[in-house]
Amino acid sequence: MSTSIPQQQEEGDELEKTWWKEAVVYQIYPRSFFDTNGDGLGDLNGIRAKLDYLQELGVDMIWLCPVYKSPNVDNGYDVSDYQAIMDEMGTMDDFDRLLEDIHSRGMKIMMDLVLNHTSDQHPWFLESKSSKDSPKRDWYVWRDHPTNWESIFGGPAWTYDPKTRQYYFHLFSKSQVDLNWENPELRRAIYDMILWWLDKGIDGFRVDAINHLKKEYTDMPNPEGLNYVPAWEKMTNVQGIQELLAELRRETFDRYDVVTVGEANSVRAHEISEWISEEEGKFNMIFHLEAHEEAWDEESAGVDVDDLRIVLDRWQRSAQGIAWNSLYLENHDRPRTVSTWGNDREHWRESATALGCMYFFMQGTPFIYQGQEIGMTNAPFDDINMYRDIETKNMYRYNRQKGVPHKDLMKTIKKISRDHARTPMQWNFGANAGFTGGTPWIPLNPNFNWLNVKAQQQDPQSVLSFYKKMLKLRKDHEALVYGSTHLTYLECPYVYAYTREYGEARYLIISHLDDDTCSWWNPVDGELLLSNYDSYVDGKLQPYEARVYLLN
Ligand code: NOJ
Repeated sequence: MSTSIPQQQEEGDELEKTWWKEAVVYQIYPRSFFDTNGDGLGDLNGIRAKLDYLQELGVDMIWLCPVYKSPNVDNGYDVSDYQAIMDEMGTMDDFDRLLEDIHSRGMKIMMDLVLNHTSDQHPWFLESKSSKDSPKRDWYVWRDHPTNWESIFGGPAWTYDPKTRQYYFHLFSKSQVDLNWENPELRRAIYDMILWWLDKGIDGFRVDAINHLKKEYTDMPNPEGLNYVPAWEKMTNVQGIQELLAELRRETFDRYDVVTVGEANSVRAHEISEWISEEEGKFNMIFHLEAHEEAWDEESAGVDVDDLRIVLDRWQRSAQGIAWNSLYLENHDRPRTVSTWGNDREHWRESATALGCMYFFMQGTPFIYQGQEIGMTNAPFDDINMYRDIETKNMYRYNRQKGVPHKDLMKTIKKISRDHARTPMQWNFGANAGFTGGTPWIPLNPNFNWLNVKAQQQDPQSVLSFYKKMLKLRKDHEALVYGSTHLTYLECPYVYAYTREYGEARYLIISHLDDDTCSWWNPVDGELLLSNYDSYVDGKLQPYEARVYLLN
């Protein structure tokens, strides 16, 4: 192999081995996974019915997006009872059976935990809202005079309550009311709820929007005279948040052998230590959004490989020896990467697999979002009425009010709406792709007539087969879990390449993220372990070609 590949495993680089570092996590958006009762919405029994599929894929842990009782304004991210299951998904008995089935297969489960806000239908809020003297008034944030902030989902971040003549605060929609984390009684109630789930035997939490727990409620400067001003810095990673998070961890997660992943947008790699280091971190991992924010936007034709390298390498190096990364390409809040970062037309299969190979073998715990393993694509929905997501709908509404043309908005929505990740899982060629016998809550992506699990199960070259091979490879080679990661360059501008090094073992991972062929003259001295092409030529990378080598 080219001598330019550095050998730099350093002493003391090794972190303690733990089950969750070796695990691969599969994220389920239950509403869109599999429906067993014909109401058009996925349910807990649907997940139970597909455990064989997940086990065959090789996943170790499942992350369930919220299944708590909820009016579903934001599909479960508006919880009205943390200790009950939403009617559409089943019952607590169904949940207990699911937990048992998962554990009996040696798999684990991670729940979503929404702590920044509750639904406006939560009894705590109904009580808080009932009067200014309510004992729970201070569990939420009430003010006589609102700040001038815009909510993350558009429109004002405060809503007036005519009965008690005050405004309440909501970072997201007005039905998702922010909890007041400054109130110790509220915090205690939250900790008790978390302990209740932990006692039930779940294995971890993905903690929603956790970097927003603290706010600095003062007006934003408004030189442009906007109705509402984005106030990101006043509601994100505000000074003092670490103390709150430290208490949360101490009072709950620390007492169990569980894994935690905080969703923490805008946290940067230089902040790793306080967030996730093994010494002083508050979570085991976080989901940062930096790669998605820096390497692609709605104007981009494909992913910017330079930016991607810069961001991901920074996270790999910053975590090395002190913390552990989460690795992900997709989730329920992002469009499908094969459509945005890759090419979902003539190189659909190759780009879905090359993107998979790019992120999957870095140091960290890989997460796979449902449908990613079969290369599901953005939906071609032209009509705003085909979309269901509150963020998409609000964005459309507020921008239309500001005079933005319908055509321009639809162009953006077709590219970035969260609903692209939320169309039903495509299981087979049958009606509704086998997702439901009823009317699906959101239209299917019509490409299920060729893109589905069934079509890929028997095809050794399919995206699904490639994912299975990736999972197996990671399982069979400890170095691909614990080895250090080193970025390397192959003279092709659109190649993301890196080595993993662990003791004497060295691996090379190459993902060519472009439509063209690229020449690259250094033959590799090693054994080819994985490739997404049937045949390959040394010295050349075909469009979206991906390879994994064990180097000699
Ligand atoms: C992040 C979740 O991933 C997203 O789906 C949700 O809308 C917001 N947090 C609010 O809970």
